[in-house]
Amino acid sequence: MSEPSAVSDRVLACEADELADGESMTVEPDSGEAIAVYRVDGQFYATADMCTHEEWSLGEEGELCGFEVTCTLHNAKFDIRDGTALCFPATVALRRYPTTVEAGKVYVLTEESAGES
Ligand code: FES
Repeated sequence: MSEPSAVSDRVLACEADELADGESMTVEPDSGEAIAVYRVDGQFYATADMCTHEEWSLGEEGELCGFEVTCTLHNAKFDIRDGTALCFPATVALRRYPTTVEAGKVYVLTEESAGES
């Protein structure tokens, strides 16, 4: 019996020039949770889209200021670089995803457990 292995998947988020600095968007992969993608100083960051306090989209409804995204429902703030919850009412960090840009396209790298074989 082998241990579950991690499989890297990548999700095409957008064309790099689709997202301006200071903007964010929500990506809905074929499977798994929705992902918020942000652009700050030309770099792309990605976290879980759903606020960890209640259900509210950060990619579509959040306000991005520097590296902080504010949930506009109850004003929790998160650091988009590592997902840290910066203030109440959120106390749980957002899942963070690595990103990569290839040939002008932005990809989010996700990992899924492949399960036991
Ligand atoms: S739903 Fe985001 S702070 Fe309440």
